Amino acid sequence: VNSALISDIDNTLLGNKRALRQLVGWLKEHRGKLAFGVATGRTIDSAVAILRQWQVPAPEVWITSVGSEIHYGVRRIPDTGWASHIRHKWRRDALAELMKTLPGLSLQAAGNQREFKLSYIADPDKMPPLEEINHHLREQQLCAQLIYSHNEFLDVLPIRASKGHAIRYLAYKWGFPLRNFLVAGDSGNDHEMLVGDTLGVVVGNHSQELEPLRGMEQIYFAHEHYAAGILEGIAHYRFNEIKPAASQA
Ligand code: GLC
Ligand code: MG
Repeated sequence: VNSALISDIDNTLLGNKRALRQLVGWLKEHRGKLAFGVATGRTIDSAVAILRQWQVPAPEVWITSVGSEIHYGVRRIPDTGWASHIRHKWRRDALAELMKTLPGLSLQAAGNQREFKLSYIADPDKMPPLEEINHHLREQQLCAQLIYSHNEFLDVLPIRASKGHAIRYLAYKWGFPLRNFLVAGDSGNDHEMLVGDTLGVVVGNHSQELEPLRGMEQIYFAHEHYAAGILEGIAHYRFNEIKPAASQA
């Protein structure tokens, strides 16, 4: 394996059955050379269920709960090294207490709350601006990362956890460069994983919040939607011709 395709699930990988079948076929052709991964806001159990429903074969790597958890393969072996890495400066209870005092934010369902992820439904008219929330965090000497998406969700994560950080960790662990990762997404919680040194693909049906990435280096805006957009990105980057890392220098 010398490269990886990492895709967001909702509205990126999933959305168009026919294009998805084509992409799954493409992945099968490149098995052994290319690792397939998903990066999602969903929990691991919910990611497993939705991929099963859409008949997507189990990926080699599952980046779930907005990058705060990593699991491997069909057996979903958790990466405990990742958990100890992101635990740094994470004070979940104190953060939850602080968030309680802010207007316009209500906790999402219990199933969406994880050891390393607090998630809220945000009312954009009532919640304080992100800078102000960050200010409150600093005042209380708390460290966390705020990820806002769909004008609706606010995730609070450890400073070392995100989809993008998880991908960088994998590049280091697997020993191949970030430019051998093709990364696809459609919305706010994909922003940070798209702007790294990876080959980024924004699908045609993306939400407004990714518009600012247009024109950036190594971010391709596909015209096609969902998995067809990923295939368009693969063609754009000639990703099927990626050379083994050693001969790339
Ligand atoms: C998914 C998660 C939710 C999170 C959202 C945005 O919908 O279930 O908890 O807030 O993604 O990252
Ligand atoms: Mg999505």
